[in-house]
Amino acid sequence: MILKQPSDCLEEVNRALMEYLPDETDPMREVMAYSLRNGGKRIRPFLTLAFCELCGGSREVALPFACAVEYIHTYSLIHDDLPCMDDDDMRRGQPASHIRFGEANALLGGDALLTRAFGVLTSADLPPSLVVRAVDALSQYAGTAGMIGGQVLDLAGEGSNQTIEALKRTDIGKTAALIKCACVLGCIAADAPWEQIDAAENFAEYLGIAFQIQDDILDVTSDDKVLGKPVGSDKKNGKSTYVSLLGLEGARKEEQIYTDRAVHALDIFGEDATVLRQFVRELSHRLS
Ligand code: IPE
Ligand code: IPE
Ligand code: MG
Ligand code: MG
Ligand code: MG
Repeated sequence: MILKQPSDCLEEVNRALMEYLPDETDPMREVMAYSLRNGGKRIRPFLTLAFCELCGGSREVALPFACAVEYIHTYSLIHDDLPCMDDDDMRRGQPASHIRFGEANALLGGDALLTRAFGVLTSADLPPSLVVRAVDALSQYAGTAGMIGGQVLDLAGEGSNQTIEALKRTDIGKTAALIKCACVLGCIAADAPWEQIDAAENFAEYLGIAFQIQDDILDVTSDDKVLGKPVGSDKKNGKSTYVSLLGLEGARKEEQIYTDRAVHALDIFGEDATVLRQFVRELSHRLS
């Protein structure tokens, strides 16, 4: 069956996410499992599996790659909620990790997911040359040139009005980088040619920006229950967002522009990418 949306692979992804954790005798398992278990939309693992299929691979082999990205993403959320960062108390519909386990354990739980992610990559049933490329990609996209770099810019920008260009740079790091990582790892698992990897990267950059704009919009228009995390977090922290700089309507227009660009970036895949285009369109109307 061709994957159309994250719910199509939810069971296999959720099962694998738990299987790659340390066993029950390990006291960190529960801290790691707690943040993974609930409520995530699983967009990144879906993208890994979907790109693997799109590039002609079989998605089972990409499952460890999909889990590794979700581990990194989940660790980034645990740390993002800490008092020294966005200081938010709720995540994925439950108390944030530091509220449930205390700050030190939340920090270590995040560290543990980050570290485990690289071990999980190596369990893929793929030629070592592809696994090495995956390790390299994950370290680049999650690192200072990717997600961490974006988080640094995000924090540095608090309390001042950023330009749209600066905000875009931040979002390409903090959000688009892991979405790129998800797509590229799917391509690597299928040993895709560079043109397809290039297209996947472009697609993911546009999608990542659109995704963050929608996240900023929901921070203003949604409510805690639906969103599973506190609304109003950006204003509380003095963040510049597309909404604070362009207003709601301006942000919505910009989001549409990036969604359109993401859809067109899939042109080289022809009709095979029809379901992915549909998924991206639906994502731009998401409520959480
Ligand atoms: C939230 O990501 C953080 C951003 C990069 C905007 P998601 O909206 O994908 O969060 P989950 O995984 O569904 O909880
Ligand atoms: C977080 O962006 C991006 C990362 C965690 C890398 P936000 O701070 O906007 O995410 P939420 O709104 O807390 O999910
Ligand atoms: Mg943040
Ligand atoms: Mg946050
Ligand atoms: Mg946000």
